[in-house]
Amino acid sequence: MVSKTLLKSHNEKRSRTRSAHTGSKKMSPFFAAIFLLGLCLANAVNFKTVYQWDKFDYVWPTGGDISIGQMKQNFKPEDVDLQYMAVFGERLFLSLRIKSGIPATLVSLPTSGMSTAPPKLAPFPSWDLHKLDKCDTIQRAYGMEVDADGRLWVLDNGSGNCNSKLWIFDLLNNDTTERVHKFPDIIVSYSTAAWMHDIALDKTSDDYLAYITDSFSEHIIVYSRKTDKSWSVETPERKWQYLALSPNRESLYLIGSIGSKELYSVSVPELKNGGGRAAVKFIGEFSRGPFRMLIDNANILYAAFYGQNYISKWNISQPFREQRFHEIEDYGADRPLTFALDTNGTLWMTERSGFYSEKRHKLLKAAVGARSQ
Ligand SMILES: *[C@@H]1O[C@H](CO)[C@@H](O)[C@H](O)[C@H]1NC(C)=O
Ligand SMILES: *[C@@H]1O[C@H](CO)[C@@H](O)[C@H](O)[C@H]1NC(C)=O
Ligand SMILES: *[C@@H]1O[C@H](CO)[C@@H](O)[C@H](O)[C@H]1NC(C)=O
Ligand SMILES: *[C@@H]1O[C@H](CO)[C@@H](O)[C@H](O)[C@H]1NC(C)=O
Repeated sequence: MVSKTLLKSHNEKRSRTRSAHTGSKKMSPFFAAIFLLGLCLANAVNFKTVYQWDKFDYVWPTGGDISIGQMKQNFKPEDVDLQYMAVFGERLFLSLRIKSGIPATLVSLPTSGMSTAPPKLAPFPSWDLHKLDKCDTIQRAYGMEVDADGRLWVLDNGSGNCNSKLWIFDLLNNDTTERVHKFPDIIVSYSTAAWMHDIALDKTSDDYLAYITDSFSEHIIVYSRKTDKSWSVETPERKWQYLALSPNRESLYLIGSIGSKELYSVSVPELKNGGGRAAVKFIGEFSRGPFRMLIDNANILYAAFYGQNYISKWNISQPFREQRFHEIEDYGADRPLTFALDTNGTLWMTERSGFYSEKRHKLLKAAVGARSQ
């Protein structure tokens, strides 16, 4: 299937159309059209549909337990609100916004299936870790990423009395919980407010660091796997919601409050020394406020926007310039999609169309970035 990919902004397309007509008077409209089509297809990214869901369902636990029956009864498929995604090997992981009818905030599914029926959502790593009445379980999963050694890092905001945590699962060792880091009070101001959103992993020569946004405080949180410690780097007068790390691991790109269009960056070395401050730099302004960003290994930053049915891109090696990358079949949902990159340079994306009980979802994939050969 060839997707409706629009590579250039409308303005740019208009000006190119103009020059195609005025610049070459001899070119007939027919050839001009072919010329334009060629330009588009040369750069087109083909998204392939992997699955399509009319309705989500969970892989329910077995047994005749009353609480299982209750959970099934309470489940509202239309309340499934996909937030963040990560992919490793043959599995895809999704974090779901918690509502009363949603029994597990972190699920996995296979990246390909034998049958034509779309897969059910399997609570990850088990139903046991999704009992909301206990603080040592996963409360509200948000940002996630898989590291190069097959570990899934999941940011759990916590809820009510349960503090925010960072979970690390070993996907190559039966999905065992390798680490649960509880962010201490001196880092996260639980007494006032906290909302942990997004995470980006940085593999250094001898460690893995995680950069984390907490949208209620003027800082960036850093966690070191080696020392199992987290620290806070102040960014006076600026709070952050979403982030993406450059492939050379020198710049962290940041979006502030919900709906903010302004893109900033901070120098990664400034984040590494604990307890300091970091200077932020204004990079440019998007057409709309992004709710998700990531950068592939060819330095292309992808951004998706609140209430918009398109994804934009920007080559971070060049001055800021937003270009249209892809349009989805959305009918105006608030956050109509989510995306993730796997280690093979495949961009995985879910998109939602329709409202309420008519909501449908698709999983798509496309090759992006610089691949070997
Ligand atoms: C990436 O490629 C490897 C080797 O071909 C394959 O084993 C792996 O499953 C692929 N990963 C994904 C997410 O498709
Ligand atoms: C995030 O967690 C904090 C406590 O750790 C809680 O006060 C806040 O309500 C949570 N926010 C959301 C959106 O879950
Ligand atoms: C995973 O668990 C199974 C069953 O408990 C066990 O047989 C297997 O050895 C474990 N694999 C690893 C890599 O630990
Ligand atoms: C990004 O920009 C750099 C510098 O202009 C260029 O060399 C590179 O080819 C561009 N990357 C892509 C994927 O277009």
